[in-house]
Amino acid sequence: MSNQENNDLNNSGMNDEDMVEVHTKLNKDKHPPTQGFLIAPLVFVFVFGCLIFVCSIQLAHSTNGFDVHPPTEVVELTDEEREQLRLERKFNSGKKLFTANCASCHQASGLGLGDIYPPLAGSEWVSANPELIIKVITKGLIGEIQVKGKTYSPAGGMAAVTNLKSDSDIADVTTYVRKAWGNDATEVTEDIVAQVRKDSADQKDQWIGVELQSTYLQVSSNE
Ligand code: HEC
Repeated sequence: MSNQENNDLNNSGMNDEDMVEVHTKLNKDKHPPTQGFLIAPLVFVFVFGCLIFVCSIQLAHSTNGFDVHPPTEVVELTDEEREQLRLERKFNSGKKLFTANCASCHQASGLGLGDIYPPLAGSEWVSANPELIIKVITKGLIGEIQVKGKTYSPAGGMAAVTNLKSDSDIADVTTYVRKAWGNDATEVTEDIVAQVRKDSADQKDQWIGVELQSTYLQVSSNE
């Protein structure tokens, strides 16, 4: 401050106290009190924070822990239902295998075709000891046979179905044949298939019709 200005102030007639008072007043007018306004946004932040928190918990609950995929339903089956389901699956798998490997000759209806392809529906061969049908499928069959009172003797017989490799496929298809079209024979297990294949490992050619017939079908006709 220059000397001149200093003198002007001193000559303005204001003492120090007046000056402080005027400044305080000016200060108040220029800057309105802010305390009240500062709290408002804090309250909003707090309220919204709580809201987001509560909504998150609600969302986590209603969406199974933010899982996008709905929870897989856990259905408790009784032993009986589980057994029925297992058989149903086996039957359906066997049906597919039958369609692909047998139906061209024995027909989807299981009724066979003409004088060449014997029927499987109602056949005593199918419902006999399961070893019989397993043997026919795995090695084939040749020569004269009787099915449901009718004689079949097609040239070449039936070749082994080499497409069916696994014990479970053979078990499935034979189970299907033994239970389809009104047939009512027991299920064929993989264990039986494995055993029969092991026992007949030495058999290189097709089975002879009359031999199988006398082994398996005379017995059942005496029952
Ligand atoms: C290429 C034609 C052909 C295919 C494929 C075929 N079979 Fe045969 N199957 C025959 C013929 C023919 C006979 C009669 C053989 C004989 O008299 O020596 C026969 C006989 C049978 C017999 C005994 C007689 C009877 O009617 O019960 C059974 C069981 C049998 N087949 C099941 C099957 C099954 C199961 C499959 C599929 C896994 C199958 N066959 C695939 C032609 C076929």
